[in-house]
Amino acid sequence: MRKTTTLLLGAALAAIAMPASASAKMVKQCKDLGITEIKNCASCHNDKKPSKTDLNEVGKWLMAQKEARKAADCDMAWLKEYYASKK
Ligand code: HEC
Repeated sequence: MRKTTTLLLGAALAAIAMPASASAKMVKQCKDLGITEIKNCASCHNDKKPSKTDLNEVGKWLMAQKEARKAADCDMAWLKEYYASKK
């Protein structure tokens, strides 16, 4: 019984932790790609508690690209094009 509870709790926690860790990965990916404009969560989100619905101009652009490219996930490398077009 106890084991089951621990397992379920673990699975639930993993599910909750997923999006945030994926986003932390986004920040790191940008750093690795040399996209210096992305500094933290606020670079793509407006809210103190980031979610899918508080995306700023950059975040919305990424979502539009995801749609246009029919990609499963946002690719941080796209941002190079975004910032290149801003120069
Ligand atoms: C480079 C831009 C960018 C950065 C930086 C970024 N996010 Fe996001 N975030 C997005 C985009 C775009 C989505 C929507 C992703 C999708 O639906 O494919 C998103 C979605 C999310 C979601 C909703 C996930 C879901 O699947 O419902 C959360 C929560 C989130 N971000 C938190 C964060 C946190 C916390 C940070 C900082 C560690 C962060 N984000 C940094 C662009 C970013």
